[in-house]
Amino acid sequence: MFVKCFGHPPRWKAAAPGRVNLIGEHTDYNEGFVLPMAIDRYTILAGDRNTKREVTLHSVTTGETANFSVRAPVQPGQPSWSNYVRGVVAGFQERGFKVSGFDAIIDSTVPFGGGVSSSAALEVATATLLEALTGQKLDPIEKALLCQKAEHAFAGVPCGIMDQFTSVLAQQDHALLLDCRSRKATPVRMTDSAITVLIINSNVRHKLVDGVYASRRKQCEEAARILKVTALRDATLPDLEAARAALDPVVFRRARHVITENERTLQAARFIQAGDWPKVGELMYASHASLRDDYQVSCLELDTIVDCAQSLGEPGGVIGCRMTGAGFGGCAVSLVRTSAVQTIGRKIQESYEHKTGTMPTIFSSRPGGGARMVKP
Ligand code: GLA
Repeated sequence: MFVKCFGHPPRWKAAAPGRVNLIGEHTDYNEGFVLPMAIDRYTILAGDRNTKREVTLHSVTTGETANFSVRAPVQPGQPSWSNYVRGVVAGFQERGFKVSGFDAIIDSTVPFGGGVSSSAALEVATATLLEALTGQKLDPIEKALLCQKAEHAFAGVPCGIMDQFTSVLAQQDHALLLDCRSRKATPVRMTDSAITVLIINSNVRHKLVDGVYASRRKQCEEAARILKVTALRDATLPDLEAARAALDPVVFRRARHVITENERTLQAARFIQAGDWPKVGELMYASHASLRDDYQVSCLELDTIVDCAQSLGEPGGVIGCRMTGAGFGGCAVSLVRTSAVQTIGRKIQESYEHKTGTMPTIFSSRPGGGARMVKP
């Protein structure tokens, strides 16, 4: 494809994965804990320098081409997907790195807009390509922060650090327990071949999602202020109970989700390490219930998937299931017995289609590795 568009083979190829979060939802921007893993699906940028001081991007997925100049600080523009690349180029420029013009083809096996961080994968693949192009290798944490800023400033999404972190730092065969305050990542081994991670895409994305995300962040900040803590990471359930009268009842429930979710995430990491799968499953269901009832970011479609998985339960080979990502559509994640993967997939699909009239997309993934250069 690169040859077809630009007349010669690419010099570099950078790959960055999407992610699925096993547990620890809406905790990253509260300086808490998350437990994601990279999926073995990647966004790939094949590229080479040009002599024009201009960037030309061609997206295989959308069939569109984007052009922008690097003579001046890069600004947001059209088409909208180009903003993930523009934002990362701007981040390199801001650090004083000279970004020359380049041509690139973008291709991806990360489902777009499906809650598995296709945007972070594009940002991190761009940053990885730019490291080769500029000869400036970034510290991995700085790289993730640069990509997060691109998402804030160029896509207008006030996301936490989980997605970009995972796409940069993920390790093959491991989930990562990330402390979003200290930014320390602890690998949690996931090599038990009897257990499979199943990702169920609801194939719906309710429009609410961006506005609600920003408003949940504000409610968390309000709770932290009233509780007199730096972030909800620092609060305990007794602290929250003691402040009940001072808190709006809705804000109280938002905070309760974050506080209990942090605890569940730390416990889940321990139970995965110990191979205690039933306990991991209980925590996943509890996480979903808390996101549905206290944080209120689930939706009928995600609840339908989780209910179906839960009704199959241990006897049907399901260990646990929950919504994953920001919510209001996107994906659910389930841990299942490998021996029952096919049957579970079929049953969830039938029941979901029957109840919602929409077909889900279901795939499994081993924990994949983080962003890297691959052979062009
Ligand atoms: C989105 C954001 C993440 C995180 C999740 C919710 O994926 O990009 O930073 O906040 O939602 O856990």
